[in-house]
Amino acid sequence: MAEMSVLVAYASKHGSTELIADAIGDALRRAGHDVDVRPVSDVRDLARYGAAVVGSALYIGRWQGDALRFLRRHEASLAGMPVWFFSSGPLDDSAETAQLPAPKAVAEIAARIGARGHATFGGHLAPDARGFVEHFMIRGGRTGDWRNFERIEMWADAVAAKLALQLRARSWSQAVKPRPVATAAQESSSRAFCTNRRPEAIRQAATV
Ligand SMILES: Cc1cc2nc3c(=O)[nH]c(=O)nc-3n(C[C@H](O)[C@H](O)[C@H](O)COP(=O)(O)O)c2cc1C
Repeated sequence: MAEMSVLVAYASKHGSTELIADAIGDALRRAGHDVDVRPVSDVRDLARYGAAVVGSALYIGRWQGDALRFLRRHEASLAGMPVWFFSSGPLDDSAETAQLPAPKAVAEIAARIGARGHATFGGHLAPDARGFVEHFMIRGGRTGDWRNFERIEMWADAVAAKLALQLRARSWSQAVKPRPVATAAQESSSRAFCTNRRPEAIRQAATV
């Protein structure tokens, strides 16, 4: 059976989280996985994916609405595969010095689907970012880039390694799966085949 693809789905308002998702996708590909990196709003169904990494930028302490809608819409499918989450946001070095938790709504879904992990990465606010609140944050000197691509790659490498183990275990368990036991109906028809055919075969052999 061909290896299933890994989905890296993200929500990003100003593009910084998109680059984090790209970096995660690149690391998974280098490890040999077949990867699709797509905005959450572009993903219709998860049938072709065997695992997923889902992330969003943080705004006012929450994931973006389309990322939360994605999780709710696909919760049943995500529950059946290995899933990792990431958030991106802090405009300071807090994500480097502590393990920042996922927002409450994400943590609840993570617990329900048995997600394998969550990481918060530093964020980025460009001096020319558009938006009402962005304008005031820029004027308040909150611009800068706290994304640490070395740490992002290390995290993605760890995800890739765990995923490889998981896929190997799955294909091993498929390889040694016992063959289905014949049903009573199959057994009686195969007995009938033997008992009915044998005299005929003997008869044919005798007439040759
Ligand atoms: C209006 C606004 C609200 C934000 N709220 C948070 C927040 O609650 N927590 C956080 O860690 N970062 C917050 N940030 C920082 C963003 O998450 C950060 O800029 C992120 O990298 C943006 O990602 P994007 O470019 O993919 O949209 C906020 C930024 C803005 C502009």
